[in-house]
Amino acid sequence: MGYVRWLGHATFEVELDGYLVLIDPWLTNPASPVSIEEYKDKVDLIIVTHDHGDHLGEAVELMKLNPKARLAAVYEIANDVAAKLGQSESNRVIGANIGGPLKMDLDLKVLFTPAAHSSEKGVPTGVVIIGKEATIYHAGDTGLIAEMQFIGELYKPDIAMLPIGGHFTMDEVQAAKAVELIKPKVAIPMHYNTFPVIQADPEKFKKLVEEKGLGTKVVILKPGEKYSF
Ligand code: NI
Ligand code: MN
Repeated sequence: MGYVRWLGHATFEVELDGYLVLIDPWLTNPASPVSIEEYKDKVDLIIVTHDHGDHLGEAVELMKLNPKARLAAVYEIANDVAAKLGQSESNRVIGANIGGPLKMDLDLKVLFTPAAHSSEKGVPTGVVIIGKEATIYHAGDTGLIAEMQFIGELYKPDIAMLPIGGHFTMDEVQAAKAVELIKPKVAIPMHYNTFPVIQADPEKFKKLVEEKGLGTKVVILKPGEKYSF
């Protein structure tokens, strides 16, 4: 049994095949129900979709609190994290790019996908995590992109976490179209209501998805809540 737990904004705690994975670990976001200290010596893998502060979050601090954890990100972002951690820790930082699965010493398949957004360094991404228990797609910050159809066809995600807040990313309407392209079993909205500029209505997203008759279940989590699989 694994789960996806929303920690507010784009931050998720994922338990998959016994691994604890943090995606976009901004644990100090205004909606976060957790503290950084709770994750000491618990995390196996940290994934950063791009280096905006609301996604890189406390990744460096968490790597220091978790001496066995790996961090995966696009090459230039990974290099920056490695430099902040110091030379002796750089073997724990996996610099990769958009394409096929990463070569790494964890028994999970992780691959970065395109995202239409910006990034200080490298390029913005989404991420697909494939375990035995489930396949999970976290879209990162992105506008609606046609590549989502390929992600759906190739990896058939069980769960897709999609931004709906608008302004910097897709809104409810575009995210519902994304669901049509990806066809996940479950869609979880994220990246909304953290700040006034990304106010959005997850119920509107749910209704728009249901109107398409795709069979995708929209699961609206409150910060701290889990969807178990
Ligand atoms: Ni961003
Ligand atoms: Mn963001």
